[in-house]
Amino acid sequence: MKANPGGQIDLKAVIGRDRIIEQIWDTLEQQSIRMNAERRIGKTTIIKKLRAEPRKGWAPIYQDLEQYHTASEFAMAVYREVEQFLSLSKRTARRAKNLLESIGGTEVGGVIKFPSFSRETPWKEILSNSIQDLVDERSNPKDRPLFLWDEVPFMLASIKDHEGESVAMEVLDILRGLRQSYDVRMVLTGSIGLHHVISGLKQQNYANSPLNDTLPILVPPLDSESASELAYKLIEGEYIQTEVHQKLAESIADLSDGFPFYIHHIVKALKQSGLEGTSNAAEQLVSRQLLDASDPWELKHYSDRIPVYYGEDNEKAVLGILDGIADRAEAISFNELLAELKGTGVLDDRDRLVDLLRLIEQDHYLSRNNDGYYRFQFPLLQRWWKLSRGL
Ligand SMILES: Nc1ncnc2c1ncn2[C@@H]1O[C@H](COP(=O)(O)OP(=O)(O)OP(=O)(O)O)[C@@H](O)[C@H]1O
Ligand SMILES: [Mg+2]
Repeated sequence: MKANPGGQIDLKAVIGRDRIIEQIWDTLEQQSIRMNAERRIGKTTIIKKLRAEPRKGWAPIYQDLEQYHTASEFAMAVYREVEQFLSLSKRTARRAKNLLESIGGTEVGGVIKFPSFSRETPWKEILSNSIQDLVDERSNPKDRPLFLWDEVPFMLASIKDHEGESVAMEVLDILRGLRQSYDVRMVLTGSIGLHHVISGLKQQNYANSPLNDTLPILVPPLDSESASELAYKLIEGEYIQTEVHQKLAESIADLSDGFPFYIHHIVKALKQSGLEGTSNAAEQLVSRQLLDASDPWELKHYSDRIPVYYGEDNEKAVLGILDGIADRAEAISFNELLAELKGTGVLDDRDRLVDLLRLIEQDHYLSRNNDGYYRFQFPLLQRWWKLSRGL
């Protein structure tokens, strides 16, 4: 197996996700899912595997929604995908097609062309009709339709920017309505936390919880056995010279915190360095990559996104909180942290600290131990944080 950090990997090269995939299929029997997790942990890889190897009785449709910036573009993309899906069994999205024709769509050589859309486009109807068509017209009614939607929060944020909060909210409401009305399931995910987009909307008096019918599923890093297995196979595939193959694989698994993305990177760096594969060499390469100004592991977003996620007013406080926790080897209690932040003049409001810690934890920077003490969730991130912040 070749190292391919961030690239499209062969599905046979997906390691260690069988359990979560089973959990997803089991859950889908009952309800839709929102898949939440840290960036670069392997969400897209999981949903691509769901598409490629569906459990019997499911008909998945996968779409990356990053490229859609308006509700109409989204509705049309769903229509096209449904139409393509139905055409495989010589069926057609009749209702949606009729609707589109009624608003000026013309067929040219089997492809419908539409007038350029304005804000008045009946996107809700296009979306609903497409999904209704999918449910009614599918050739095998035993196969339940499943939408695998990647980069949902990104699209919603984009719709919000282009068309306003209310349209983004409507998209969420319509999707919930469709989940309730039709025998269709959805897996929603993306690289930005969905909670950021929803809480942004909530501040604009959006009372509904448009996702409360979906089950949140957290994608964890690979367990140590799977992480070692991936590292082992990559070391083998890249022909890394080593006398300690298994031990090296375990060291890489450990250094990566179980993020497959970092495992690929470490093996790639080892290959490029030409060094003999030892745990020491892997350790040194990690330090070098963490310090590399070109940021090959894409870690800078962990600090860049702070003003975006928490607002510029909170930036200083959040940086202070993370600095305070990163700089110590042990987990820290709430009161101790508050006292420290008061001492350094970063923050002195207990309630504000409670709120910020909750958000920071939700974004996977921090986790709490059994005593409720705070620490970095991922040692690798802590290590990078210290280096990049000069602590
Ligand atoms: N289970 C796995 N086995 C082997 N490699 C994996 C696995 N999951 C992810 N990878 C590697 O990690 C890279 C990133 O994975 P992926 O794109 O699925 O992450 P993501 O969580 O969708 O990232 P983002 O948050 O940026 O959308 C892949 O290109 C691949 O190199
Ligand atoms: Mg992704």
